[in-house]
Order: sequence, then structure tokens, then C-alpha cells
Amino acid sequence: MSDEITSTLQENRVFEPSARFLAEIGPLVVPDMAAYWRMYRQSIDDPATFWGEIARDFRWYRPFDTVVEWKAPDAKWFVGGTTNVCANCIDRQVDAGHGDDAAIVWEGEPCAPQPEVRTLTYNDLLREVSRTANALKALGVRRGDIVTIYMGMVPELTIAMLACARIGAPHSVIFGGFAPNAIVDRVRDAKSKIIITCDGAWRRGQVVALKKNVDDACEKLPEVEHVLVVRRTGEPVTMHTPRDQWWHALVAQQSTDCPCEALDSEDLLFLLYTSGSTGKPKGICHTVGGYMVYTAYTAKTTFNLVAGSNHVYFCTADIGWITGHSYIVYGMLPNRVPTLMYEGAPNFPAEDRFWAMIARHKVTHFYTAPTAIRAFMKWGDAHPAKHDLSSLLLLGTVGEPINPEAWIWYHQHIGASRCPIVDTMWQTETGGHIITPLPGCTPTVPGSCTLAFFGIDAAIVNEKGEELPPNQGGLLVIRKPWPGMLRGIHGDRERFIETYWSKVAGMYVAGDGARRDKRGYFWIMGRIDDVINVSGHRLGTMEIESALVSHPAVVEAAVVGMPHEIKGTGIAAFVTLAPSFTGTADDSLRKQLAEHVTKEIGAIARPDIIRFTALLPKTRSGKIMRRLLRDIAAGRDSTQDTTTLEDFTVLAKLRESDE
Ligand code: PRX
Repeated sequence: MSDEITSTLQENRVFEPSARFLAEIGPLVVPDMAAYWRMYRQSIDDPATFWGEIARDFRWYRPFDTVVEWKAPDAKWFVGGTTNVCANCIDRQVDAGHGDDAAIVWEGEPCAPQPEVRTLTYNDLLREVSRTANALKALGVRRGDIVTIYMGMVPELTIAMLACARIGAPHSVIFGGFAPNAIVDRVRDAKSKIIITCDGAWRRGQVVALKKNVDDACEKLPEVEHVLVVRRTGEPVTMHTPRDQWWHALVAQQSTDCPCEALDSEDLLFLLYTSGSTGKPKGICHTVGGYMVYTAYTAKTTFNLVAGSNHVYFCTADIGWITGHSYIVYGMLPNRVPTLMYEGAPNFPAEDRFWAMIARHKVTHFYTAPTAIRAFMKWGDAHPAKHDLSSLLLLGTVGEPINPEAWIWYHQHIGASRCPIVDTMWQTETGGHIITPLPGCTPTVPGSCTLAFFGIDAAIVNEKGEELPPNQGGLLVIRKPWPGMLRGIHGDRERFIETYWSKVAGMYVAGDGARRDKRGYFWIMGRIDDVINVSGHRLGTMEIESALVSHPAVVEAAVVGMPHEIKGTGIAAFVTLAPSFTGTADDSLRKQLAEHVTKEIGAIARPDIIRFTALLPKTRSGKIMRRLLRDIAAGRDSTQDTTTLEDFTVLAKLRESDE
């Protein structure tokens, strides 16, 4: 394992919070490192007091009796309490007299010179979410039924999620970039009978045919009884009666009164599918009480949000991923800081889309991914330089390790060398941030996500669970439960235990290799499983291999990550063609195979390079030697031990087939 986890990155520049940040951000949630350490110690030694106090700030219908019950791998938080996440996001704000405050600001893809902007206040949200919740009830959705959502980035997506939360129907949001087959797998696994979608979504001036994808998926999903369709683009779509209904027709008829269900803390709030080592995506389960408290509190602390101030927060993620769930929707609304969501792409109509948005909406907090930052760098400094970015106070990154050059560029060109950068490390499974600097408090070092968040007993260990000395690479684990942790994989207890809890006894294994430096700061070195992080999106290499093998020309495929300037990790596929294939192994076949993967999974999984090979290098037990393939894909000469290689000639042949 340790030879997988090697990093030579040395970075000694330390950045302290700027005076201007300290003067402008408002009161600090965590004022200094002494306070951080005091709070951190309490959160680990006495989690019941620490989280109990935070949780009591939320609206509970029945107060919880016990803060946490823990018997690895099962945690229960806020046991005995009943609450509702939607009530804490919306009703609580309205009841406190903040109904007219902006909750969500949405900017559509600019199809005209002036972009379409909608601001939804908490009053608006209450009305629209209640109506939508009643519409779902009218379609027969009951507490506990899982609702699939496959939509573009429109306000109705957030409204649909909150409507589900209101009536206790867990949602399963599928990223709008996924292809019909991906919808089929996820709807089947969730046993969902209803899908909410849009006619289409705008992306770079083109329409993404969401409804058509749902129609294609539904051919294999006779169990889907209802499809509720938001009209966004106005492009013609086929409506199948009685299955399909227009959102605007059904929702408008509903009453604006819909009481919140009192849900148990441990009721399911949502499922979110993510990739793992096998081809089958995992439905990660998050529950009501713990997720609510953890996302709202991490958002408040990591971004130092101040309700009722001038703060405007912009996260560029898609809500189809966990970042959007936690830090566009659920973590934001309870903090009463307007959250800006956008439709479209960062480079349409031009590469300055985000900078224009920051200037237009006076954004104070900007949260994006390293892959986007690398693209901004490539597009050039002139784009941000054209816009007034002086409203910015704080920058964040998420999704993959950030290379120090990108960090420094972000700091200088976007943050004018005065905005702290919070490099937030977390996962779909963790619900919220687990390792992150706190702004105005933690000195930052480019490339390091710094220190554990409150309640996170993170460590670097070997397989025996022994903590490793500074700078030695090992497994990133968390040794104690935290409120936002996943409660399971939907319908697959064994996989839950096997994936996270069996590698090191009694500890949560994140699946990342990492080290700590002498200061105690964490450095994430990359995944240790067959998961690759492409443009901050998590993909299982097996999923891509299965898609390739489903093409008639292919008998076997091995997919590995390779260094990529913008994506961080690119996708390299090694493909063995079927004996029955009579065509030529050329660029046109490469293109066909790449398109096949796009059709099967989605454009994010499209291989960057495809190599044809007569045989794949395997160990004597038949395992594909991925490390060798990674070296070849990266153009490195392999120094790996190859004594277990079945057919040595394969290696030479693969090298020769370099493009
Ligand atoms: O490898 C880590 C990487 O992204 C993985 C989690 O992916 P996902 O569940 O899709 O969630 C992404 C958004 C939270 C992690 O196991 N990762 C995420 N953030 C960072 C990171 N690696 C290094 N630094 C980060 N800040």
C-alpha cells in the first residue's frame, strides 16, 4: 500500500488571515487557534455536550433524549428526537420574521444579453415548496417513498428536494449529465415509482434532453408510475398519458398549506448514488437529524456565515452531487445567507461567466473545484481582471487535492491576496466537511486541507490501525462517529461494512491515502481504491470498463487514471478487441467506443485515451495489474515489481502501442 501512497510535494508557504478579511467578515465563529483546539478537544472528548448544544438551536417537535449512540459501524444521533429539515430551512426563518429575506438567487444560462435572474425569498419558498409537497401527495407519494429527481439547475430542483423533505419522502437526485442507463440502475435500486424532471436544461446554448432521457430509461422501468415535468426550455417533448404530468399545471392547483411531517432523527432524508470499486453505484444514506445539524454547522463555521449581513454565497457545484446538496441547499438555508445557484457552464457565453456573476450579485463567498481553477488559469488572467471582484471575502475549494500553483493563482487573481482559501476535504459519505481550515483562524498552506473539523477524529494509520509518524503515507480513517456520517448503503449492508469498516477494525476508512506533516496538517494523496477523481467527479473504473465491454467490438477492458492538466485525473482505457471483430483498430473505432461510454454513463466518463492491446497484463491469479497500466498511461517507465506478471511480452507490446 505504501508504495501507492507516495508524494514528494513540499510546501512551506504559510498564509495568515489578512487584516481586511478580519475587518470585513463580521464576528468570527472560531476566533483563534486556541479556541479551535479547545472546541476540538471538547468535540472529541465530550461529543454529547458539544453537539447537543448545537443541535438544540434547531427546531425539534420532540426534543432528543440522547445525543449519540454508537456501536461500530452503526451510529444514531439525536435519538428520540423528531424534527423536519424543511422546517429548519424555511418555516423557522419565516416564523422569525425573515420571510422577505432572499433565500435563493438563481441565474439562468444567459440566452439574452441580460441574464434571467430569479430571487426566491423564504416566503416564496414556503409557498412553492408547500404546493409541490401537496402535488407529490396528490400523486400518491407517502412518507418513506423514494422520489427520483433528474433535473437541470433550476429553482424547481431545490423546491422539489425541500418538498420531499417536508413530507418525509426521501429523494434520490441523479446528476443531469448522466445517461438513461444510469437512471435505470438508480431508479431500480431505489425502487422509486416517481421521477421529477425537466423538458430539458440549457448548457452552452444547447438543450440537454432530460425528458427524452427519462423516456428512454422508462422503457426499462415499467414500475415508474409518474413523471412530473418542469417546463424550462419549451422545446417539444412527448408526454405519455397518464404517466406524465406538467409541473406547472399540477403544482398551481395545490393548496399552499402543507404541514411538515414530524420525522424521526434517524429517518432517511435522501439517497445519493456515488461510485465505488465495483460497477454498481452505491446509494449513500443520509438521515434527517444528524445531516441537518452537521451541514448547517459546518457551513456556518467553515464559511463563517453571518445571517442578516451582506453575505452572498456562490457554490458552483451541480446539486446532483453532494456538494450541491450540502452546500447549496441544506447547509445554507438554515444559516439565512442567500445561496446563488446557476444554470449553464463556466465558459458560456464566455470564459468570464463566474466573474461577471460575482460582480453582478456582489458575491462574498465563492466555492469551486480545483479542476475549474485550472481551467480558469488556462483561459487567462484577463477574464477575472475585467470584473469588479472586490465584494469577495472568502474562497473555497472542494473535490480533489489542489495543486499549489492553482492555489496561489486563485489566491492572487480571484482573492486579490486578501481572501482566505478554505480547502475543504470531505466525501458523499461524510455529509459535510471533515478536514478544513477555518477562515480567520487556521493558517493555510497551499495544497493542504489542514486540520480536522470539530467532532472528526481523523488519523493516518496502517492496516493494523496504528497511527503513523509525520510524513508517512497511510490510510485516512475516522475513529469516532460524527453527526453527518452515512448510515449505510441502500439495501446493501454487507457492502457498507466491507467498503468502510472492514479494512481497519472499528474505524471508518475513507478510501484516501494521506499523510500529516510535522505541523499536524493533513495532505490528501489520492484514492487507494479503483475510484478515480475526474474533474472532481468520482467515477469507478469498473463502471467505465463495464460500459466498454458492453460494446460488441470489445472483450476486455481496463481503465485507469492518468495525470491530466485540467481534469486532475484523465481516463485511460486499455481495450482488447473481440476475435469476432473484423474492422480495424483505428481512431474511428476509438471515437465510437468513447461515444459508447458517453451514451452508457455520460460525458464525464468519456475516456481521454484508448489503447488497443492483444492482452492485458495480469497476475497469476488473473488480476489486472493496474499499477503497471497507470505507469504506462502516465508515460512513466515502470519500476514496479513485475515478477507476478503472467505474460511479460504484454508490457512491451503496450509500450509500443503508445499513441
Ligand atoms: O478523494 C477525495 C476527494 O474526493 C473524494 C470524495 O468524492 P465525492 O464523494 O464525490 O465528494 C466530492 C465532494 C465532497 C474524496 O475521497 N476530495 C474531496 N475533497 C478533497 C478531496 N481530495 C483532496 N482535497 C479535497 N479538498
